[in-house]
Amino acid sequence: MKILVSQDYQSLSQKACGFIEEEVNRNPASVLGLATGSTPLQTYHEMAEGHKTRAVDYHNISTINLDEYVGLGESDPQSYHFFMKEHLFDKVNINQARTYIPNGLADDLEEECSRYEQLIDQIGPPDLQILGIGQNGHIGFNEPRTSFKSETHIIKLAESTRKANARFFKSLEDVPKSAITMGIQSILKSKKILLLASGENKAEAIRSLLEDPPSDDVPASALCFHKNVTLLVDKEAYKKVEYLRGDELNHD
Ligand code: GLP
Repeated sequence: MKILVSQDYQSLSQKACGFIEEEVNRNPASVLGLATGSTPLQTYHEMAEGHKTRAVDYHNISTINLDEYVGLGESDPQSYHFFMKEHLFDKVNINQARTYIPNGLADDLEEECSRYEQLIDQIGPPDLQILGIGQNGHIGFNEPRTSFKSETHIIKLAESTRKANARFFKSLEDVPKSAITMGIQSILKSKKILLLASGENKAEAIRSLLEDPPSDDVPASALCFHKNVTLLVDKEAYKKVEYLRGDELNHD
């Protein structure tokens, strides 16, 4: 895993945007794997700026999102469909017919999981997958103790995740209890992975990811088995890491 430590969230986001723009400029028909949550927000903002000011062209890309809450549709402001439109899809010249997100309203959720996994194989796998990390080390919505071999599935959200995400809802009761998420194996299919972590509340998850042996207690540690992962982390999220990894470490 390559580790790039940034001074702050702004610098991390600019770097993340740089990785994405480089990918899209090199291959205008790139498949991007996209994440939600607070962490990629500034990256998406930078991408919108890059589209306007640097003429980065997203017209031919396809996108595959990691996850969606069960029970929320695209008109629900808390859904990840809504999030993606608001923060990225409506801000760049992406062809929205080529943006894919699991359907949290599907009548048959198991069938939706199979359909989505097939779609990942048909459209993807992503050339570049963007990931955030939960405070408990989750990626997508793969909570601790999810099998590293999992494909797209329904997950019961950990109470700690529901509490962490309650800030986006009116109250904790409104936070869905389950979600559809790409599995860990689905994520590992990606050709390149960019893991973003910012802020002190991610410091323990990052320490554990980098210092503890890989284990399903920390789903992100499955990334240790992938050959092309870059961790973009800011100083706050990196501050509990004591074990330095020599030339894998870069500061700005
Ligand atoms: C959610 C998403 C994850 C995201 C995580 C961290 O649970 N499903 O994909 O990485 O939260 O979110 P944040 O960036 O808001 O801390």
